[in-house]
Amino acid sequence: MKDWMRVAGIKSSEITDEQLFRQRRTIIQASMAAGMTGFIGSQAYAKELPGPIKKWDSNATDALTNEETATTYNNFYELGTDKGDPVKHADKLVTEPWSVVVDGECNAPGKFTFEDILKPHAIEERIYRLRCVEAWSMVIPWNGFPLADLLKRFQPNGNAKYVAFETINDDNLPGMSSRVLDWPYREGLRLDEAMHPLTLMAVGMYGNVIPNQNGAPMRLVVPWKYGYKSIKSIVRITFTEKQPATSWNMSAPHEYGFYSNVNPDVSHPRWSQAKERRLAGDISGLAALFAKKIDSQFMNGYGEEVAELYADMDLTKFF
Ligand code: MTE
Repeated sequence: MKDWMRVAGIKSSEITDEQLFRQRRTIIQASMAAGMTGFIGSQAYAKELPGPIKKWDSNATDALTNEETATTYNNFYELGTDKGDPVKHADKLVTEPWSVVVDGECNAPGKFTFEDILKPHAIEERIYRLRCVEAWSMVIPWNGFPLADLLKRFQPNGNAKYVAFETINDDNLPGMSSRVLDWPYREGLRLDEAMHPLTLMAVGMYGNVIPNQNGAPMRLVVPWKYGYKSIKSIVRITFTEKQPATSWNMSAPHEYGFYSNVNPDVSHPRWSQAKERRLAGDISGLAALFAKKIDSQFMNGYGEEVAELYADMDLTKFF
């Protein structure tokens, strides 16, 4: 769904698959006609998402983040630590060919090409809020499929309690010469969190193939957790019995817990998590720094859906 549709009062549920399909084609044709040079990151639009895209009846009423902001104000430390670095160095990330190793506690491990991974899945559009631990947030129409549908294909066995993910480890990525994190970027989820229907494996956004700076060709979107759990450019999925090590927790364990659920009542040791700057509507570029602050919501507003995952857990201890 495009910003102009929301402005025009068109609800996601009113867009037909056919409309989405045509809209996507138009974008692709337009960028091809423009010699693929008109828009930063436009190289990513050379390919098309397999359609039709299934609609997901989200109740999201928030204004969308505009596509330019979502694809130019990024965190992807392998491409640099400044917000503008990922788009600037996006072409250093080579996504073709791409393969993913699946191993650990499962009965159907293997090495799969991105095409193998993608093939059996119907692509959905899901408008999700993504809140960064740095206290800014965006509202993005992601395209992808439930992570659970993918994980089931590898048949996790009875010992699988967690799922660990790793990002590509490539010395040619300019940010990786810095020791800001212990590479490769690693994240993990408890198996039930990974299998939760809200957890998405994204392969696109705004109806287009996902741009490199946003984690091509596949990245997680876990909408009730701080953005850093939504690991980009995944090359390894491992089912484990023990809680896996995760990059941010390894780098600063007292600041970044394994769970990392958005919780306005648990401050980061160096700043409050009670509010966030919402980068949405017309806000782009430098204006992002001065965007209006809104109250952050428990579990980023997805509390009703996910609360049962944490029943009986002290979320100040398991932060
Ligand atoms: N994944 C990798 N591999 N490297 C990163 O630096 N940054 C995380 C997350 N996934 C990161 C990553 C953080 S801190 C955030 S807030 C989100 O990606 C940002 O996603 P976006 O750039 O698509 O908004």
